[in-house]
Amino acid sequence: MSYIVYLNGQYLPIEDAKISVLDRGFTFGDGVYEVIPVYKGHIFRMREHLERLNNSLDEVYIDRPYTLEQWQEILCKLVEKNSGKNTGNDLSLYMQVTRGISERDHAIDIATKQTVFAMCRPLPEYDRSAGISAIIEEDIRWKYCHIKAITLLPSVMLRHKARDAGATEAILVKDGYITEGAASNVFIVKNGIVKTPPKDGSLLPGITRDLVVELLTESGIPCEEVAIKETELKQADEIWITSSTWEIVPVISLDNNPVGTGRPGEVWQQASEIYQAFKTDMTNVV
Ligand SMILES: Cc1ncc(COP(=O)(O)O)c(C=O)c1O
Repeated sequence: MSYIVYLNGQYLPIEDAKISVLDRGFTFGDGVYEVIPVYKGHIFRMREHLERLNNSLDEVYIDRPYTLEQWQEILCKLVEKNSGKNTGNDLSLYMQVTRGISERDHAIDIATKQTVFAMCRPLPEYDRSAGISAIIEEDIRWKYCHIKAITLLPSVMLRHKARDAGATEAILVKDGYITEGAASNVFIVKNGIVKTPPKDGSLLPGITRDLVVELLTESGIPCEEVAIKETELKQADEIWITSSTWEIVPVISLDNNPVGTGRPGEVWQQASEIYQAFKTDMTNVV
């Protein structure tokens, strides 16, 4: 089925959206991206996502193509074209900015205008209460994981390993410490205390992660941003992963061993209810 996408100032049916083979996104993976959930036509945590996008752009020396206001206008129009405000199904909004077109030369001063692309797809529906299984893998990625770069080959390989092992996600370990999932952030619960690794270059500052930390703290559930050893992960009562499309999902099996009771835990249940309440309060979205 055709749908409308945004490409460099135009709204087009997906089959008409074309870019050059010399786009540096294609030849170098030279670009950054965002994924934002859209609930009933409302873009969730848009400002936070756009700020993170700007941060990614700044870090890789790509000029910001639009102001926050311009982005908001473009994205809201795209969502409307794909769903209709207030009536639409839940969507996942993908946006990508590459450095643009140039001869295949690593130097960046020759690139032309940025290529800006955005599309909306139905948000996958998950039965979160079923939980997922995960495997532990060595974090083989680069040192700048706080940048949401489109260059995702290590993550693709890690996710493939997880699938090959019959699991959904790979939880990554660097020098004995947990960083994050292949495409998610990680939380553990031990003796009623929730923990997630602190934000540094080894992980993406997840918008969902930050919101979960904020909501738990507001609700009086102890939550710490601290380094987590691999051994702590293995002995956790609960493990969760978070992302914009997954929200909060309990991991019930790790490397084929049950996590805690082998069922979604009580703290996850509480966190999930708090998150759903926040999400359905439309004053929290655009
Ligand atoms: C590597 C990585 N970490 C964390 C996340 C979660 O971030 P967010 O909650 O902003 O979706 C993602 C999302 O795709 C990701 O790719």
